[in-house]
Amino acid sequence: MRKSLLWLGAAALLALAWGLTPGPAQAQKPVPAPNQPLQKEFRIVRSMSKQAVACIQCHKLVSPGIFSDWAHSRHASANITCLDCHKAEEFDPDVAKEHYKVYEKGDNPWAKAAYRVPISGVVTPKDCSRCHPDEAKQYSVSKHANTLQIIWQIDPWLNFGLNSDFERTNGCFTCHGTVLKVDKNGKLDPQTWPNVGVGRLNLDGSRGSCSACHTRHRFSVAEARKPDTCGQCHLGPDHPQWEIYNESKHGSIMRSQGEKWNWNAAPGTWTPGVDYRTPTCAACHMSGSGVELTTHDVTRRLSWEMQAPLTIRPQDFKPWPSQTSWQEERTRMRNICLQCHSQAWADSHFTQMDGAVKEYNNVYYQPALKKLDELYKKGLLPKDAFFKAPLWVQFYELWHHEGRRARMGAAMMAPDYSWWHGFYECKKRYLEFMREADELIKHHQKAYVAPYFPAATGSTQKPPQIFGPRKK
Ligand code: HEC
Ligand code: HEC
Ligand code: HEC
Ligand code: HEC
Ligand code: HEC
Ligand code: HEC
Ligand code: HEC
Ligand code: HEC
Repeated sequence: MRKSLLWLGAAALLALAWGLTPGPAQAQKPVPAPNQPLQKEFRIVRSMSKQAVACIQCHKLVSPGIFSDWAHSRHASANITCLDCHKAEEFDPDVAKEHYKVYEKGDNPWAKAAYRVPISGVVTPKDCSRCHPDEAKQYSVSKHANTLQIIWQIDPWLNFGLNSDFERTNGCFTCHGTVLKVDKNGKLDPQTWPNVGVGRLNLDGSRGSCSACHTRHRFSVAEARKPDTCGQCHLGPDHPQWEIYNESKHGSIMRSQGEKWNWNAAPGTWTPGVDYRTPTCAACHMSGSGVELTTHDVTRRLSWEMQAPLTIRPQDFKPWPSQTSWQEERTRMRNICLQCHSQAWADSHFTQMDGAVKEYNNVYYQPALKKLDELYKKGLLPKDAFFKAPLWVQFYELWHHEGRRARMGAAMMAPDYSWWHGFYECKKRYLEFMREADELIKHHQKAYVAPYFPAATGSTQKPPQIFGPRKK
């Protein structure tokens, strides 16, 4: 956001006032890597409340790692203290009751009743929104923040209890987010915490976690601009965007030359061609570029729903329809490409991508779906067999694994994903699925359904915080 330049100006002035800028002695030191701010001595000489000073000083002793990360952040240079983010009210459900005790022990000078304030270990988008309202607002309407609402509408694992709560906590919810819970003593339930999933449901009603991409306590834009940040979640057999990016020419150039790029450019000023030569995930999906402003809503700039079984337009995606037309979003993404490519180059890329989408829909998905329906209608496959029926798994993997890879590989310039991990695998799967289905139909034989399914014990109750109390 351009207004951040003002923040930066203010921060620079403050830094001068506190003597944080490098003096002549420091100027002799070698220049650090671009995303490592200069080592600076932290001195508290301004008007912080004594409670806020106590947090810093005591934690400098009890958790030096946290102190040091914070001290190296832009927040520290802008006078943003621990208390600014962690402050809570006595009555907040997530207030850390245990923490009051640290003011009683008296084994260090900061353990004094005079410094006692209510705090929370949970810092939510609502807390950040006090100072970053635009980012929080954009994020709040994104698929990231609302993913629990989305997946609880469409996912069989959850809706039919096909995996255990334990498997979900370690798998699904680490990426998608948990519904935070506290016990009656105010202690966070370890089944739900710690967690920084993109769609975490917080006790203050806000959705998501900003530290999914801006890890504490650096909260760095440089980090968020790098593909590894997104790649924590966007990888694997079903959405290998990180692997796809690494394969692409963009990724390969970034790996060979990225060390010299200016990752730490001030927010909103990261400029293609000047600060970096090829785009990262953030550059195409989030960062400002040319006429496009930075957005924290990752659904912007997309014209398809390629994760869906049948590829549809974002405005037709019922669980979370986009508010804009796909043409508008295509134009936005194209504007990003035009910073470095000609119109003909970009347009031809999108023609190829749209071709891959249509081929997947028409040649693979729809005929396979028709066959599956035939099995259902003829009573050869029960509708609630899901993963208990190997034939159904074939169908699932056709769209959920290789079908996604074929489409996403084409969208993000990765030929190996589009073909060998994509369409090639689609063909193989399609043949296996169709052959087995045709056999069953020919002999009017029922599909194999396993009599058991391990750990199918997960709760099927949709989170009442989103969907309201369970209907009787
Ligand atoms: C006198 C020392 C002291 C002071 C002052 C202090 N803390 Fe702590 N704080 C601790 C200790 C000790 C822990 C527990 C660390 C552990 O679990 O290893 C802790 C834990 C925390 C946690 C984690 C709580 C949780 O539930 O996960 C947060 C967040 C925190 N402090 C923030 C603050 C903030 C903000 C302030 C200032 C308002 C502050 N602390 C002041 C000593 C202190
Ligand atoms: C810009 C906001 C911000 C500031 C400033 C901040 N924190 Fe945090 N802190 C967070 C977030 C976000 C988390 C992760 C919790 C979450 O996801 O809700 C966190 C987590 C923590 C935790 C628990 C995490 C762990 O690894 O145990 C402690 C303890 C903590 N902070 C202490 C501090 C202290 C001490 C300071 C000041 C030196 C500080 N924080 C400054 C936002 C902040
Ligand atoms: C009390 C106000 C305040 C709160 C609360 C706050 N911030 Fe900030 N934040 C700032 C200021 C001021 C800056 C400095 C702007 C600059 O230097 O460009 C900043 C800068 C940032 C930056 C840019 C850092 C960089 O490397 O350029 C990020 C990212 C950020 N904040 C994220 C967060 C997140 C996430 C939270 C909540 C966990 C949060 N902030 C809470 C005031 C705040
Ligand atoms: C490694 C992180 C990760 C894990 C683990 C994970 N997901 Fe996802 N999930 C994602 C990402 C990233 C996407 C977005 C894919 C895309 O849009 O291309 C996604 C997409 C989805 C979607 C599609 C949403 C839509 O908008 O159509 C559903 C449903 C889903 N996940 C459910 C689950 C469930 C249920 C589990 C556990 C059984 C799970 N996920 C495990 C990261 C993960
Ligand atoms: C999906 C990853 C992701 C999440 C989640 C995320 N951010 Fe960011 N954020 C970014 C990226 C990437 C940038 C860098 C944009 C650029 O290149 O200037 C950024 C930049 C920022 C900046 C610098 C100013 C700006 O807008 O460019 C602030 C402040 C910020 N984020 C705050 C937040 C807050 C507050 C939240 C939670 C409501 C949040 N971010 C959640 C990825 C994320
Ligand atoms: C903590 C995990 C996590 C991180 C980190 C993360 N994402 Fe996501 N992302 C998800 C999940 C989960 C979804 C699926 C949301 C849904 O459709 O329900 C998703 C969806 C998306 C989508 C598809 C949105 C749509 O409308 O279909 C895009 C684009 C995206 N993320 C980009 C990014 C970028 C860029 C970054 C890094 C700057 C990033 N993500 C970081 C988990 C993550
Ligand atoms: C050169 C620009 C570019 C880069 C770099 C890039 N993407 Fe994409 N991404 C695209 C385009 C183009 C699409 C398809 C947009 C559409 O739907 O029209 C897309 C689609 C997506 C989708 C949506 C798939 C769906 O479900 O519909 C996700 C998620 C995604 N990208 C994540 C990432 C991640 C994570 C990275 C980095 C590891 C990344 N992208 C790197 C351009 C890029
Ligand atoms: C920051 C500049 C930059 C941006 C933004 C950018 N690209 Fe690129 N792109 C490059 C560079 C540099 C190359 C390598 C050119 C070469 O091979 O000489 C490249 C290569 C490509 C290639 C060739 C891939 C191959 O395997 O040969 C395609 C296709 C492409 N880009 C499409 C896009 C599309 C589509 C977008 C927008 C969604 C985009 N690019 C955004 C800089 C960029």
